[in-house]
Amino acid sequence: MIKIGSDIKYAKIQLDDGGLVAIPTETVYGLGGNALNSKTIEKIFTLKNRPNNDPLICHTYSIDQVEKYVKNIPKTAYKLAEEFWPGPLTLIFEKENIIPDITTANLSTVGFRIPKKKITLDLLMNLEYPIAAPSANKFGYISPTKTDHILNNFNSGINYILDGGNCELGIESTIIGFKKDKTIIYRLGSLIYEDIMQCIGEIKIYSDSEVYPGSFINHYAPDKKLYVGDIETLYHKFKDKRIGILCYDRYYDYISEENQIILSKKSSLNEASRNLYSSLYKFDNMKSIDIIITSFFIDKMMGKTMNNRLNKSSEKE
Ligand code: TXA
Ligand code: MG
Repeated sequence: MIKIGSDIKYAKIQLDDGGLVAIPTETVYGLGGNALNSKTIEKIFTLKNRPNNDPLICHTYSIDQVEKYVKNIPKTAYKLAEEFWPGPLTLIFEKENIIPDITTANLSTVGFRIPKKKITLDLLMNLEYPIAAPSANKFGYISPTKTDHILNNFNSGINYILDGGNCELGIESTIIGFKKDKTIIYRLGSLIYEDIMQCIGEIKIYSDSEVYPGSFINHYAPDKKLYVGDIETLYHKFKDKRIGILCYDRYYDYISEENQIILSKKSSLNEASRNLYSSLYKFDNMKSIDIIITSFFIDKMMGKTMNNRLNKSSEKE
């Protein structure tokens, strides 16, 4: 059984010792280890079954700390960092040699983020190194937003789960990188497109077909097949299967309510995104259904981010 608690001192001892600690953030839980210790990082890749060409994100507590580990911070990055850190934003920089190649999957760049979750910020402030932490799930599976989800993925190999309750935002950070004079969104996440635009103006989002590190086609996916589209059409198409419906704000009358989950009764995109991954975990653990059907959200704010995840986790027809 993996030990769970909210003891920062105990978490620090494990990390100082080269162990792995699952850390809560406002986006999702991470599987953390000392970013500067290659042996620890190797353990993360092995435990997750993560391919070694998929770089990890490093977490720390201040811009001053980030400056120690990266070559140059562009002006636009400072602007974004000042506006959105601590928060659901990861920035990509040219790395200093002190960050081992294994952490960044041999890239010359490294991703940094300052999370907002208080217990994790407190932990980070007590460490002499950043924590590298991918989401605390098996590679390709749904990111965890509560400690139970971590136990759904792992039953050993983690020294401690730092319990910070549920993740408030529920979807991974937005990742932004800089190429010459261009600013690029590599992964749209909990920091929404509209807020980024308001801070730095129009910028490019990598389309899903464009290859960038860690952009794998099927990702964030439940084990059960997930289909996205018009609910009525999907219902008729899969009538012979035991269907679960992931609903936005109301039940459908095609099937029993027991096999449906509503994301937000009050039609809030933020509440829906907070509940999205935990609902997928619930469906995967439900014995009464074989497949999940759902529809896209309105393509703005957190709806745009959730649509990106639905695209990545659903069956391609
Ligand atoms: O919210 C989050 O970002 C969570 C929490 C734990 O911080 N972390 C997370 O990590 O989602 P992970 O490993 O599941 O996703 C990290 C992704 C990689 O798959 C890759 O796409 C991108 O971050 N990434 C990391 N370093 C990069 C780099 N140097 N260049 C481009 N992309 C990078
Ligand atoms: Mg992940």
